[in-house]
Amino acid sequence: MSDEVMELIASQVKVCTKCVLHYSRKNAVPGSGPSHTEFMFIGEGPGFHENEKGLPFVGPAGKFLDELLEKGGLARNTVFITNVVKCRPPENRDPLPEELLACNDYLDRQIAAINPLVIVTLGRFSMAKFMPYAKISEVHGKAQWINGRLIVPMYHPAAALHQPKWRPTLMDDFSRLPAWIEKAHKNKPAGSKVIETPPEKKPDEDEPEQLSLF
Ligand code: URA
Ligand code: SF4
Repeated sequence: MSDEVMELIASQVKVCTKCVLHYSRKNAVPGSGPSHTEFMFIGEGPGFHENEKGLPFVGPAGKFLDELLEKGGLARNTVFITNVVKCRPPENRDPLPEELLACNDYLDRQIAAINPLVIVTLGRFSMAKFMPYAKISEVHGKAQWINGRLIVPMYHPAAALHQPKWRPTLMDDFSRLPAWIEKAHKNKPAGSKVIETPPEKKPDEDEPEQLSLF
């Protein structure tokens, strides 16, 4: 059932014209990976290579993500990987609020179809979907239950390609993923905070709210 839903979403994304990003894209990038998985990784948006191939994280950031996944004890073909916007922003600029809003429904439907236990966000835009007022510098690598899923915010792998000083932080945060996953299996709460609206403000603009981390 979820296979068919995921295919339907992908076919809709490929022909989507809901925001201006469709004008400049070559290939929309719905996401890749199995629909039956406990793990979802959500990045920012396709870059040059992803736009060429129609697949997520296939360029240099993807290569580093492969290393990070290995560090986290997860094989790439066992996780679903997608982005908050499915079409490449020109010159890899940040996605705009209206683009995030237009694309949000696809991601929500993917999350509903997969029903993952753990969602790893890569970068501040996907973090902001779940933790709109958090600062990534404060919450990276720390998990939080939101709406019955364990959300683990990570820095974006591309950050380490631009600034090598982030590499050890990312490696370190990913090395803790197996422990978070174990906790997720043991401590899944009956209910939890529901935050499923896309960010209306630019992330990192506000003081962070008090987060309940465990
Ligand atoms: N960066 C992202 O955020 N997503 C991709 O798919 C590739 C690079
Ligand atoms: Fe549609 Fe999302 Fe692509 Fe915009 S980024 S055209 S909303 S698929």
